[in-house]
Amino acid sequence: MFPKPRHLGPAYAAQFSHPSVIAAYHLRPPYPADLFDVLDRLIVDTPRAVLDLGTGTGEIARRLISRVDRVDAIDPSAGMLAKARQLPRGDHPQITWIHAPAEAATLREPYALVTVGASLHWMDWDIVLPRIHEVLSANGMLAIIDSHELPVPWEQPLRQLVERFSTNREYQPYDLIEELEQRWLFQRRGHQTTAPVPFTQSVADYMESFHARNGFSRDRMNPEAASAFDRHLGQLVRPHTSSGMVTLRVVGTVTWGTPGTPRGS
Ligand SMILES: C[S@@+](CC[C@H](N)C(=O)[O-])C[C@H]1O[C@@H](n2cnc3c(N)ncnc32)[C@H](O)[C@@H]1O
Repeated sequence: MFPKPRHLGPAYAAQFSHPSVIAAYHLRPPYPADLFDVLDRLIVDTPRAVLDLGTGTGEIARRLISRVDRVDAIDPSAGMLAKARQLPRGDHPQITWIHAPAEAATLREPYALVTVGASLHWMDWDIVLPRIHEVLSANGMLAIIDSHELPVPWEQPLRQLVERFSTNREYQPYDLIEELEQRWLFQRRGHQTTAPVPFTQSVADYMESFHARNGFSRDRMNPEAASAFDRHLGQLVRPHTSSGMVTLRVVGTVTWGTPGTPRGS
């Protein structure tokens, strides 16, 4: 009845198995520390078991593990999980890395919290939301997590550049929470946006971080297009740097609530 936006199809999700995306992933701005306080407060039931779907390099799993009893961290990209294991706390005995898509992974319920960071949009909502519903504990919550940078002085030309060079030609704006609510797959209970925190990195790292994003995998861009994108991006950002460094202001967002099952099923 409600087809999922085409730009969120499996061919685009597959970019997160590309070696170039995995190699550049750590250059994306990190989630602000306050976000983990919000997640901590959402856990009511014991044991404090967490399911992190679409864990990628475990940005959420590895930073949450000191506050919970265990995390099952799931992703279909073997390369992402291999990188996760090498990063701080990637070898924590209470994190179980599971190589599978959220639609099919073997789960060890109950979970007091299910987290999905910048990844629910890639999943098959009609399968995954009812699965989450089944594995949550009595007071368990689903936390839909994301982050973004506050607008930069080069925002407008940056948007035009991204539109021009993105390999995802089917992109259309959408609101994930609204899409889920329209389908009766999620009921929102609360939302929090963290205070912005500064994040400083070199211009080279800033530019490379784009190649860890949807539409900019170097494995899918032709090399001429990738260098033209980098050249234009460098021209936009350089007037705003200091000693070759660029500072962004990053906010984290958490929308929490309960998953449902599609209407009528
Ligand atoms: C942008 S990354 C987010 C990683 C991490 N959660 C974070 O916040 O940094 C998106 C992740 O979703 C994963 N993904 C894509 N389709 C998926 C699916 N069907 N089930 C589980 N994860 C999926 C990708 O492999 C990728 O690691």
